[in-house]
Amino acid sequence: MKILVIHGPNLNLLGTREPKIYGRRTLAQIDRLIAEYARERGVDVESVQSNHEGAIVDHIQRAADLGAAAIVLNPGAYTHTSMAIADAIRAVATPVVEVHLSNLHARGPERARSVTAAACRGIVSGFGHESYLLGVDAALRLARPGRRNATRRAAASPRKRPAPRRRARR
Ligand code: DQA
Repeated sequence: MKILVIHGPNLNLLGTREPKIYGRRTLAQIDRLIAEYARERGVDVESVQSNHEGAIVDHIQRAADLGAAAIVLNPGAYTHTSMAIADAIRAVATPVVEVHLSNLHARGPERARSVTAAACRGIVSGFGHESYLLGVDAALRLARPGRRNATRRAAASPRKRPAPRRRARR
């Protein structure tokens, strides 16, 4: 199985870009961590980055042709403006998980509003580079419906727990 990771504008500058907000890891380092994390779960990752809205739309549209079962997307600042990216997400069958390094809801009203999130299956925001790893987990659950059902079944009929031990009488 393959997951496509799409990084939006200015994320190529990670490492030096506002490190207090986005951390000191470079995009290449983050991509390596994502690939390792996915490999441990038997999944391949293809990562792309673009500073251009139309190119991100193209990547979303082509995910299925690449054989990607899900997309993990950080749209960068396009999160807050891009109807074109939101439309592309809605136009394809590939499930999309939106991720952000920073917590959008702690950064003022302009950033708290995501135009793209409403089109996504869900959103992970505020865990630094680990947002991507959590995004991979979410993408896997969406791409492997059998596992999701298994989780639901387990929740519906929890295993019997051993009876609690009686306290010894004094
Ligand atoms: C970001 C948050 C956006 O508001 C910002 O424009 C970015 C990065 C994040 O990952 O926290 O470029 O998407």
